This record gives sequence, C-alpha cells and structure tokens, in this order.
Amino acid sequence: MQDHSEPNKLFIGLAGLGTVGSGLVTLLKDNADIIRKRTGRSIILKKVLVHNLNKPRKVELPPDVVLTDNLHDLTDDPTLDAIVEVIGGQDTASQIISKALDAGKDVVTANKALLAENGLPLFAKANEKGCLLRYEASVAGAIPIVQTLKESLAGNRIFSLIGILNGTSNYILSRMTTEKLDFASALKEAQELGFAEADPSLDIDGFDTAHKLCLLIRLAFGVHYNFPDIPVQGIRNLQAIDIQLANELGYHIKLIGQVREVSDTTKTSKLEAGVFPALVPLHFLLARVDGSFNALHITANAAGSLFFHGRGAGDLPTASAVLADLLAVARHESPNNTGYFEPNLPMALTLSPGQAASCYYMRIMVEDYPGVLRDIAGCMACEQINMSHVVQRADANTSNSSYVPLVILTHETTAQAMSAAIERINELKLPKEPIVIFKVLA
Ligand code: HSE
Repeated sequence: MQDHSEPNKLFIGLAGLGTVGSGLVTLLKDNADIIRKRTGRSIILKKVLVHNLNKPRKVELPPDVVLTDNLHDLTDDPTLDAIVEVIGGQDTASQIISKALDAGKDVVTANKALLAENGLPLFAKANEKGCLLRYEASVAGAIPIVQTLKESLAGNRIFSLIGILNGTSNYILSRMTTEKLDFASALKEAQELGFAEADPSLDIDGFDTAHKLCLLIRLAFGVHYNFPDIPVQGIRNLQAIDIQLANELGYHIKLIGQVREVSDTTKTSKLEAGVFPALVPLHFLLARVDGSFNALHITANAAGSLFFHGRGAGDLPTASAVLADLLAVARHESPNNTGYFEPNLPMALTLSPGQAASCYYMRIMVEDYPGVLRDIAGCMACEQINMSHVVQRADANTSNSSYVPLVILTHETTAQAMSAAIERINELKLPKEPIVIFKVLA
C-alpha cells in the first residue's frame, strides 16, 4: 500500500545485511537500469537494520543509506514504502513484518521458518491491510516456484510435488556419493566451503526442507498443513555403506521433500507429505541434481510434468528472488499472497504416516549362516511384504567384518507393515546392528 508521493521511486528499508541482504544491495546497484525499464521506477534503499552497527560489511552501501539497530526506524518510517526482511530467525522478523504491515507497508521476506510455523497471522494481517506479503526467496532460492504455483499454474489441479530443497544436505550427499566420504567429513567440507552453517541442524535434520515443503503445500493445494505434523527425517545418521550399496543397485540417496494427493482406504482424498532420505533411481532427473543445487518436480492435471532446477541458496541467487518480489511491489501488483481467494485456508486432510505406501530399501547386518535369509523372508511374508530384490554383500566394506549386509528392496508396501516386519526380525535377534530402512522412489 504505497501513497505514491514519489511515483517514480519505491523507497525501501532492508532488515538484515547478511548473505542475502548484501546480495540485494549489489543487485539493486548492478541492475538499476533493468529495474527502471521493467517498472518505470527506481528502487531506492533508504535504511538498513543490522544487529551490530560496527561490524565490517560485505558490501558498500550507497552514501545516503542510514544504518540502524532499531527496528522501529524501519517500521515506523512513513517515507518507506516497503520493507525487505532477510534477518532470519522468528521473533524479531515476525515483529518487523507485523509492524510494517500494520503501518500499511508492503513486505518481501525470505523467511520460510517464520511463514511455515507462524505465518497464518501474518497472511491474515496482510489481507486485512491490503498489503503485499511476498516470499519467493523463501523456497528454493533462485527457482521461481512461489510465483509459478500462485500464478503460472494457478489453473491446474496439482497432484504432487517432489523436490530437493536443501542445498547443504544435497552437497553433503553428493560428496558422500562421488568421493565416498563419510557424513562427518562431507559436513566438515561443506562448512569449510561456507555451504553449511556453523550449526547445520536445520539443514541436515530436514527441518529447512520441511519449512519449504509446508509453504509449497499451501501454495499448491490451498490448505494449511500443520508444520509439526510433517514427518521429518534428516541425513545426520546416514552411513557411507548405504550410499555405496544404493549406488551399486542403481540409485542415489537424496534428501527429499514430497507431498502428493492420495486416496485413503475410504477413498477420501488426502495429502501425504514428508521429508526423508530416499533412494532415487539414477534415470530420474532428481538423482542427477548434484552439489548445492535444488530441484522440484511437479505433476499437474493440465500442465503435466514440470521440472525446475537451480541454485537454492547464495547471495545473488536468493537476492534475485527478493528483487523479483520488489519489482512486483514497484509495479503496484494486487496482493495475491496465499494464491487463494478465501483469506482463511482450511486445514489439510492428511494421511496417517503409517498408511503411506512406498517401496523400501532395508539393510540388515546379519551373521552369514544357512537359513538367515529364509528367517528374514518369513518375517516379511508374514506382513504381506513382497520383496523385489535381495542381495547379500559378503565383501562390503563394513565396520564389523564378522557380519554381512543383507539388503532387501521391496515392492510397494506401507510404513506400518515395514515397522511390523522389523519388529518380527528384531524379536528373532537376527540383526547385529539396528536395521536401516529408506524409501525408494518409483
Ligand atoms: N540453508 C539452505 C540450504 C539455504 O542449504 O539450502 C536457505 O534456505
């Protein structure tokens, strides 16, 4: 909601001058002519909110920019038309966005955690105030997926979304695959190269992917999926042997975020969502997404199958998405914040995780004796699990050479049946280490 006192200029305040904020400062300068050509306006950065006024900066700010450590200097400044929030975290960011909207300012944010976990009141406030609340940078960095779902695919019914949404995890998994590194060495390397945060938990434990998935679900299906209800499994405990065995079987292990529409036993349409490491067949495009890249595969009823690939993090790629949102603000676009007409989105009808159907990879460390496979196969058969592939690797590189990995791939079954089979196998005291299972994409 801008008062257009200077119609050829959009005055903005920027909260956060880290990687993304610095990237935006650079882009505003480097692409100033493009911005004017596209919108007929100049985007003028007036104020920047930082935590520490004396910290050395990665970028040189234009001479007239005011640096402040008081958020009210941004939110209460009537000369600012819009606020960009790239400060991260939830409490201060939420305060900034909320106060900016209260003051009738449009907001651009990259904050997936805030929008996924506590976004509904902010969307409600933006709706009430008639303000833009844009968040292209919050999902998959430079990949223009938020606008794609809100606008380009708005006339489609979406069936499924599956993607690699965390660059740090994908980098680690790629290095474990190509260089045969163990998890700890690959993580250390990612941290040294600046991909992974000093505290990488959100990335490697899957919650960053889950935040992005939660936003994608809202955009694709027009429902709110309660964030804590998304089943999340990260890659922290992934072992090199599983990467190696999966590879030999024709798969790469990837950290996947997935949602799809399924019918339950009563033929009611429900959403099945989750974040999990999975075996991806090498002929799938997702298996070939390497390094810190992100990718997303969408299936829609009219558009069919679409695949997006690009940089999900980094200064300029993320700033590219922030700037696109700012250009929409500069063009006075009408708010279409959630992508849906009704301001209050219904809760998602969700499939219980136990009912979710998938193929599985199972690795059991066993003693190599006659009949061990028969005993395990018996447990699987008792739960109606159909095995598609069985391999015992006596020569596999394991920490304990007196046991061998027995790997089973299954046809489609439920998570509930797999848990029951594992319980049976454990009761027979066959595994010498905890059984490892992963979903297999088919
Ligand atoms: N930490 C994220 C990643 C980037 O590694 O992909 C920001 O969402």
